[in-house]
Amino acid sequence: MEETTTGVIRLRAMAADGALKIPVVAVNDAQTKHLFDNRYGTGQSTLDGIIRATGILVAGSVVVVAGYGYCGRGIASRARGLGADVIVTEVDPIRALEAAMDGFRVMKMLDAAKVGDIFITATGDKHVLTSAHFTQMKDGAFLSNSGHFDVEIDVAYLNDAAKKVERDVTRHVDAYHLSNGRIVYLLGEGRLVNLACAEGHPAQVMDMSFATQAMASEWAAKGAQLPVKVHEVPVEIEEEIAAVKLGAMSIKIDTLTAEQRKYLASWESGT
Ligand SMILES: NC(=O)c1ccc[n+]([C@@H]2O[C@H](COP(=O)([O-])OP(=O)(O)OC[C@H]3O[C@@H](n4cnc5c(N)ncnc54)[C@H](O)[C@@H]3O)[C@@H](O)[C@H]2O)c1
Repeated sequence: MEETTTGVIRLRAMAADGALKIPVVAVNDAQTKHLFDNRYGTGQSTLDGIIRATGILVAGSVVVVAGYGYCGRGIASRARGLGADVIVTEVDPIRALEAAMDGFRVMKMLDAAKVGDIFITATGDKHVLTSAHFTQMKDGAFLSNSGHFDVEIDVAYLNDAAKKVERDVTRHVDAYHLSNGRIVYLLGEGRLVNLACAEGHPAQVMDMSFATQAMASEWAAKGAQLPVKVHEVPVEIEEEIAAVKLGAMSIKIDTLTAEQRKYLASWESGT
């Protein structure tokens, strides 16, 4: 069972290269995982980590979110909810357009670097923030990562090039004195800020991720021997988890009548 976006990407790459040796279930790709955990869980816990570490007032700050995937969307919308002026950077034209039509400013990171107060990477990529960006940043900018691991921000460069590094100026925050005289603050050593500086996602969203893991494990263990490839979580499992979660939240929804079910599956009328 693979829980993470980056893990699934790697396993699909292994399958394409013939390097995968065991069947894998892409739990991350289940809607009951990435639509909720990545968006609402990462969205909330990332801001939680930044606020705990820095005590910053988000309202009125310019927050730059790199990557408008499921995590980036959650982070951007929660930052906006706290009153930030949110900028999104992307490399995918569809997602950049979506961010623009969701009402965020979209620009190149080199331009965002000059105006951001808080930077948050959520791409799964490497070197999204590099020396080219650090040198453009305002004095006092905060750098954080909530994506893959400590390569989204080029921490190795910062450690090599900084004139001086003050560790733990506040808990989990290191001050890097750059050669241009400015200081940038790195949160949680560039590791996942929601785990390094807070406590990860709330249980109310991890329940769905772990239910998906558990039920997909049961399905894989009880069913026929799975071929060696990356498998999707069966949709019936997702629907059952969503129904149970709704029940736990005391939410009732409508059900289709036989007439509606027939109408929705037909083409004779309304075509
Ligand atoms: N912090 C956590 O607890 C947590 C939780 C879930 C996922 N993750 C991780 O967060 C990362 C993102 O996950 P996701 O589900 O949002 O993935 P996703 O694939 O939906 O989104 C990633 C986005 O980043 C964009 N991107 C890639 N390189 C970029 C670059 N150089 N500049 C700007 N944008 C770039 C992609 O175009 C894509 O839209 C993954 O590494 C995932 O494993 C972290």
